[in-house]
Amino acid sequence: MGSVFMRNWVFGAFALATLGGCAPQAAAPLEGEALVARGDYLVNGVVLCGDCHTPRGQTGEPLSAQALQGADIGGGPPGFASYAPPLAGIPANFTEEQFIAFLQTGVRPDSSHPRPPMPPYRLNEEDARAVAAYIATVPRESP
Ligand code: HEC
Repeated sequence: MGSVFMRNWVFGAFALATLGGCAPQAAAPLEGEALVARGDYLVNGVVLCGDCHTPRGQTGEPLSAQALQGADIGGGPPGFASYAPPLAGIPANFTEEQFIAFLQTGVRPDSSHPRPPMPPYRLNEEDARAVAAYIATVPRESP
């Protein structure tokens, strides 16, 4: 009585112990320069905020000296925005925590949704923190 249960239990415990032994250690949360570097990679290599929020020159090349300073993106279908506002430093009317929440939900602090083509990002918290930390380091041009 109970022997099958016991055997399964013992096997299960053994399997768990073995898995635990092989599993990578949970990484410590990124901070400081490492967090900013992760954000640089995400913004410039993955989520590409500058595709819309950085102005372009005559031949369509992004003007890196004006990175994330806001850009006209031309017309789109009805309901689409034609201007992507400045992000450098931090977007206007967002605290850092509100900006981080926005990157996880796609919803502004006042519960409104930006119009397309702004993507409703659902970044995880660490990636949202990294994107915000990097954007905070991009200097805002004086208007
Ligand atoms: C495909 C184009 C596109 C991309 C890529 C994009 N955006 Fe946007 N974004 C827009 C447009 C257009 C708006 C303006 C929407 C509106 O006016 O309703 C906007 C609005 C926003 C707003 C709201 C500003 C406000 O005043 O409420 C924030 C914040 C923002 N974007 C951040 C980002 C970040 C951060 C990234 C990269 C992670 C990003 N966007 C990528 C096009 C884009």
